[in-house]
Amino acid sequence: MKLAVTGKGGVGKTTLSSLLAGVYAAEGKHVIAIDANPDANFAMALGIPAEKAAALVPVAEMKDLIEERTGARPGQSGSYFKINPVVDDIPDRFSLSQGNIKLLVMGTVKEGGGGCLCPESAVIRSLLAHLLVRRSEVVIMDMDAGVEHLGRGTAQFVDAFLVVVEPGQRSVGTARAVQALAKGLGVRHVLVVGSKVRGESDRQFIRGSLPDMEVLGFIDYHPELAYADREGVGAYEAAPHAAEQVQQIKERLEAILAAGKK
Ligand SMILES: Nc1ncnc2c1ncn2[C@@H]1O[C@H](COP(=O)(O)OP(=O)(O)O)[C@@H](O)[C@H]1O
Ligand SMILES: [Mg+2]
Repeated sequence: MKLAVTGKGGVGKTTLSSLLAGVYAAEGKHVIAIDANPDANFAMALGIPAEKAAALVPVAEMKDLIEERTGARPGQSGSYFKINPVVDDIPDRFSLSQGNIKLLVMGTVKEGGGGCLCPESAVIRSLLAHLLVRRSEVVIMDMDAGVEHLGRGTAQFVDAFLVVVEPGQRSVGTARAVQALAKGLGVRHVLVVGSKVRGESDRQFIRGSLPDMEVLGFIDYHPELAYADREGVGAYEAAPHAAEQVQQIKERLEAILAAGKK
């Protein structure tokens, strides 16, 4: 299972990603959790202690490794470099393990604009392709709405994009934009997960606002999740009711994907 979690900032992407990771890990599955956000905070949501998380170097900042693999140092302009560097060893060497979950932080790529390719993005793109195509683990990517690291060739290997929406116009607008973007990249399943839902009218609002998108399920507004964030506790451990709802979302997702393969 290879999943990308996207949506507007603050809707609950990192929370859903960590709950999903927790649900799969509790089943005994091995999970690779990928933090592909500029403000990386997946570690915290997974309940990884700050001291431990601080030791995690984002892949984009591993200048020596990037130079070794691509032949060019980040920031060196005008140099030739390999666009398909060897990356197979990176997930095991540079991730942080917590139980069945391995966390990898991608970091920010400062591109020169116009979607140009630089050595660090060559490494990140190759790494994502490797994780999506060659690895047997469950992969959960916590992304932002830009999905910048996923090119056409890579995005098609994502089983589903989960777009998190809260009951509000702005996150609904972002969901539509993500759907268009994802479909353009060749992603087959773009599914909505409602979050911070406080009742039936919120569920109706989300369904009614996105009539042409499939709604996988809802996560209620759980005060425990907000508390977990305040206290730096893992979402899965702190909010068993939310975890239960995500378990159902996961089962529904598996059913949809299985039906799609027939
Ligand atoms: N279902 C929910 N109920 C209550 N609080 C939530 C819920 N989902 C997310 N939150 C809280 O909202 C804030 C933003 O969530 P986060 O997952 O970091 O969003 P994103 O990754 O989309 O920016 C956090 O404080 C988080 O604890
Ligand atoms: Mg986030």
